[in-house]
Parts: sequence; C-alpha cells; structure tokens
Amino acid sequence: MPIKPLQMTQQELFSTPIWRVAAPEIARHKKTMLADLEQKWAAGDFEKHGHGYGYQSKNELFSPQGMTDQPYLKLIRDKFIAACRQILVARHGIAKQMPFDIYAVQGWYLIQTAEEWVDGPWHNHHPATLSGCYYLQIPRYKEANEGLLMFQRSQPPTDIFVNHQSGVVPAEGQFVIFPSYLMHRPAPCPSADKWRVTVAMDCFVHWHKRYSEPVRQVGPEEWDEALKQSFNPGLAPKDGLG
Ligand SMILES: [Fe+2]
Repeated sequence: MPIKPLQMTQQELFSTPIWRVAAPEIARHKKTMLADLEQKWAAGDFEKHGHGYGYQSKNELFSPQGMTDQPYLKLIRDKFIAACRQILVARHGIAKQMPFDIYAVQGWYLIQTAEEWVDGPWHNHHPATLSGCYYLQIPRYKEANEGLLMFQRSQPPTDIFVNHQSGVVPAEGQFVIFPSYLMHRPAPCPSADKWRVTVAMDCFVHWHKRYSEPVRQVGPEEWDEALKQSFNPGLAPKDGLG
C-alpha cells in the first residue's frame, strides 16, 4: 500500500535578495552601443581571455575619458550608483548605524558567443559590496537554461534542506544587482542567435564609524553631508565617483 504523504506547510525563513532595475533611458542607446562594440571587436579589443575569462573589455568603462567618448556609459554608471544607494539605505544589522560612502565604481563589457568553449567559471566580486549586470542584448536560445545568471547559495553546502544553486533570467534593457560576495557565473548559450552582451559593474563602499579611526580625514561639513545623504532614500546620484 503506498504511503500517504502528510499534510504540512513550509515557510522560508531567510533568503538572499537580488534586485532588478528597468532602464528604458539606457535601452534606447542599444543600436549605438552595439555599433561601438562591433567597432572595438573589429579593432581587436576583445581578445579571447585577454581581460579575464572569454571576451571582456578592460574594467575602465567609467573612466572620465570613456564617459566623455560614450555618454551612455555615464547613464549606466549613474543609474547603477542611484540603485546601489537606494539598496544600501535599506540595509540591516549593525550597518544601520553607519553612514556609507560609495567611493568607487568600475565597469566592463562581457560578450558571450555561442562558441563551444564558452563556459565561464564560478567567481565572486569581493571586496566590492554590490555588483550589477546591465543586459544590453539578450539573444534567442533553444534551451530555457541557456544564458541564465547562475548563483550559488552563500552558506556552505551542508544544508540538505535547501537548493544551493539558483538562476536568474536576464531581461534585455534591465539591470540585475546582487551582493558581490555571491558566487555566480553566466550560463553558456550554445544556441544563441547573436551576442549576449553585458555591462558588468562593481560598487565599492566605505562604512563610516563615527568614533573609529578614520580612513581619511573628513571635516564636519562633509561628515554631515555624508550622513544626510546616506539616510535619504530619495537621493539622486552625486557628480563624481559617489
Ligand atoms: Fe561576475
């Protein structure tokens, strides 16, 4: 006689957040961005494994020169900073007591092709605090698990009651932002009908403790301003790096 399953309910206690941010004001630059990328590709800027795994650019997209030459890069950087500020304002735990300062962001391109060898390794972006992917172009695939942004659970894989891998479906014209400590990898896309193009980026944060040894001297006015801004959810991005 088959065993009848008991009726029971399950409640998830903890989870790791990731965030999606739509960016139509950036998506409308897609054609220009792809044309610029194709030019860089033709000029040999995307050498295989030249800057990390696969076809990546240098992580200097948000340099003053880069943003002057390609103003859409400034749009991406500013939106990423604004989103990170909003996420950081809603922080938990001990960090709730400390104002923060986004002191640097960096960005680079990743182009994924349908070539057979494309199979990016697991990695994280520590010591950044938040990392993001802006999806400039998402191809069509034959299989549902192609091109996913795969994540590993951050706890050691000794917990048999939870799944230790999870995938996010990237959407063209949107950011996915996640804690930089998360191990992740883009799944291969062997049936892609065109490039899968990501602008990847990292956000670096200082947490200021008022009574601790400062990492740099901060005057009272700058301190008050940083305090005010880091607790204000309606904040617009500042000029400069954070
Ligand atoms: Fe990554």
